Amino acid sequence: MDSVRWTASVRTWRKPVRLLRMRLVTAAVAGLSAVLLIGTTASAQPGGFRPGAPGVGDPYFPGYGNGGYDVAHYALEIRYDPATDVLDGHAVIRATATQNLSAFNLDLVGLTVDTVTVDGRSASWSRSGQELTITPRRGLSKHRSFTVDIRYHGVPLTFTLPGTPFETGWMHTDDGAVVAGQPEVAAAWYPVNDHPLDKASYSFAITVPAGLAALSNGVHLGTVTRHGWSTWYWVQFTPMISYLATATIGQFRIDKSRHNGKQLIIAVDPDLPPDLADDAVGRTAEATDFLATQFGPYPFEANGAIVDDYDNLFFALENQTKSIYSKYFFDEGTTTGETYVVAHEVAHQWFGDSVAVHFWQDIWLNEGFATYAEWLWSDRLGEGTPQQIFDFFYSQPLTADFWSPPPGDPGVEQLFDISVYFRGAMTVHALRVTVGDDAFWRIVRTWVASHRNGNGSTSEFIALAERISGQQLDALFDAWLFQEGKPPHPGGSSLSATNAPTTETPAGVPNAVRAAQQRLAVGQH
Ligand code: TRP
Ligand code: ZN
Repeated sequence: MDSVRWTASVRTWRKPVRLLRMRLVTAAVAGLSAVLLIGTTASAQPGGFRPGAPGVGDPYFPGYGNGGYDVAHYALEIRYDPATDVLDGHAVIRATATQNLSAFNLDLVGLTVDTVTVDGRSASWSRSGQELTITPRRGLSKHRSFTVDIRYHGVPLTFTLPGTPFETGWMHTDDGAVVAGQPEVAAAWYPVNDHPLDKASYSFAITVPAGLAALSNGVHLGTVTRHGWSTWYWVQFTPMISYLATATIGQFRIDKSRHNGKQLIIAVDPDLPPDLADDAVGRTAEATDFLATQFGPYPFEANGAIVDDYDNLFFALENQTKSIYSKYFFDEGTTTGETYVVAHEVAHQWFGDSVAVHFWQDIWLNEGFATYAEWLWSDRLGEGTPQQIFDFFYSQPLTADFWSPPPGDPGVEQLFDISVYFRGAMTVHALRVTVGDDAFWRIVRTWVASHRNGNGSTSEFIALAERISGQQLDALFDAWLFQEGKPPHPGGSSLSATNAPTTETPAGVPNAVRAAQQRLAVGQH
């Protein structure tokens, strides 16, 4: 592995940070004004009715999500005209109050709010940064379920990362839009409690000019065309985190089939050659079946993949049931190297989507396991065992970029640093070697089954691993997740933890590593 490459790739992956920092500042300001609001509103409302908090309390992103209620369902009606880029939205949100509420917030970035009702009665609202504050005529008492109806419109914002070609959020393409981002995207196109802690079911009715497709999460129920416009109906029953929702619009070659009794939709832009992306994402079902033998049953009611021909999309994202991939990951044709990203995104359906982070600091549980799934896929392809890949990484000197920051607390600025991916996956393997295969697979499958449709934190994962293995694992996880430097080798080979250059570097770079490097290099186009 040449170190120049690593440095360059890291630079790419650190760029999203600027966006995050900007949002953090906005969030802090919005939080401040909401605090001032509490001071006045709370005293005016008798009976202990208070405004819900303007954030859920995520230490990395204090402004994300909101307090005081829990959303059960979003019914989203979206009309989007690619000719004008204008979105007309109608969101009907069913939620339950978790405290006596005098007012509550939703997250919404850009766009113009036209009307708001709560339980059918018009409500007043105000905007401040990403916070939409809604004050119903009467307070909502704790445990009460209520319906918020919001009509809005405007040109959805694309988040452009300064000085880079990276886009996320609502990305305007020549024939529609690609909608993908992490952790930020949802608030750019619908009012939302924008944090992984509040999962909800969704229904979508997305109206686009006839001839275009509107792709979304879950099951496609049907499409109705009238007066030159087509409405695509989708339902995602199994709860979903807000950032995983998509409304990706444009011309697509759609391969619709069933796999294990579930709807499978592979959608590729017809401008892309049919023997590139299709060959790789065409293996979504195969990757799903393989990973189900490792992690337990596939967690959702539908499955699929989306590849759009969009020059400014440089990443893949694990959108629930419809992962979205950059076209740049598939320009070499039918090599196995191109299937690693498919294994990665499919693995996220278990790790990230079904079992979500509790707070964003837990991101290694997503990226570490999705990367480890690539190592398992490598083994299945006969291109190297997890132990060989682990040893390849372990043999790299401490100056290699993936060692730092420790992935258990990467900080906002390095949330998606390559250390979260590679050292995160090494942490998974170190656990496996330490507790043995039998306990390891029981830990993994119990974790997935017991947190299904929910959230999980690093400390919960460690506690589960200790309970199932009967071992004290604090030192192991502390060294791998929280301490700088190269942790002691967990066993399985004789590589040493010293920083001295090793003579035991495997001759070849494992294909799984090469594939990951190529994906990181894509951002430098
Ligand atoms: N979670 C994505 C993956 O590993 C990658 C990712 C990191 C991303 N940051 C992002 C995607 C920002 C979209 C936007 O598959
Ligand atoms: Zn990932």
